[in-house]
Amino acid sequence: MKVLLEELTKVFGPSGNEDRIRAKIIDEIRPYADSITVDKLGNLIATKTGPGEKLMLAAHMDEIGVIVTNADEKGFLRFSNVGGVSPFTLIGQRVFFANGITGVFGMEKIDDIKDLKLNKMFIDIGAKSKEKALEKINIGEMGVYNRQFSDAGDHIISNSLDDRAGCAVLIKVLKELKAPNYNIFVVFTVQEEVGLRGAKTSAYGLEPDLAIAVDVTDTGDTPEASEMAVELGKGPAIKIKDSSVICHPKVKKALIDAAERRNIPFQLEVLEKGGTDTGSIHLTRSGVPSGALSIPTRYIHTPTEMANLNDIEQGIQLLIELIEGRE
Ligand code: CO
Ligand code: ZN
Repeated sequence: MKVLLEELTKVFGPSGNEDRIRAKIIDEIRPYADSITVDKLGNLIATKTGPGEKLMLAAHMDEIGVIVTNADEKGFLRFSNVGGVSPFTLIGQRVFFANGITGVFGMEKIDDIKDLKLNKMFIDIGAKSKEKALEKINIGEMGVYNRQFSDAGDHIISNSLDDRAGCAVLIKVLKELKAPNYNIFVVFTVQEEVGLRGAKTSAYGLEPDLAIAVDVTDTGDTPEASEMAVELGKGPAIKIKDSSVICHPKVKKALIDAAERRNIPFQLEVLEKGGTDTGSIHLTRSGVPSGALSIPTRYIHTPTEMANLNDIEQGIQLLIELIEGRE
């Protein structure tokens, strides 16, 4: 599991640039899927045929990043965010581009650090002029921040666990499924971080009977954290609500029943801010009963996200029980 997570979190893949992570996931799942297709927007869809209802499982392949908007005469690049990037997480960080160029985030003189905004920051790639800078990195190129994976025993600390942790869960589920009770469509979606976009089109195309997204969620277990019942290491979280969805009772019940049948610990999640692919899937066509299984994660959208390996393993077992188990 750790090896897979480390490999997945290393791969470049900001929203709209999922080709590398998609190729990596295809390599992982090829022997285990009945079919593998890539749709028009780039969502990767793997099937595992079974009797019964069409169940869509989704995890997003993309990660947050930055996008180059301009270069000044001295060769410094200006940039904007791709998804939820706080300027404070960029201080002291490197930025990596698809072509192998590395830069560093710098900032203008600021009297009060509270006034830091992305438009007060720039990327320094060591270029001496606008022309030299744009030869290396063009307008519109996206960058991602530090790739570093730490094995901390039960915990892992890494960039991009959002949502490579969810991708790892669904890769493992595909590998371990033997006799599904559902007709399974595992979708590795594109462009979640910029508005749940790939999930919207893939759900429309697949017309599932029900759906479950797997993504990370916040925790309330650090000093002075926002009020939230979810903790690291207490099991995967079954989502009740976030700002994009109220999960369907039928899917919520299926998740809770599966956990209880196998004595898998779980937590109930109410996330006040933030959404996930479930938000757009459940509003597709005339509606899709949808839920979400969340991996409790601290410091989401920083280069040092922290998750617990047992929560991840138990999430895999919970989904397998839901798909293959009998009441
Ligand atoms: Co995210
Ligand atoms: Zn996510």
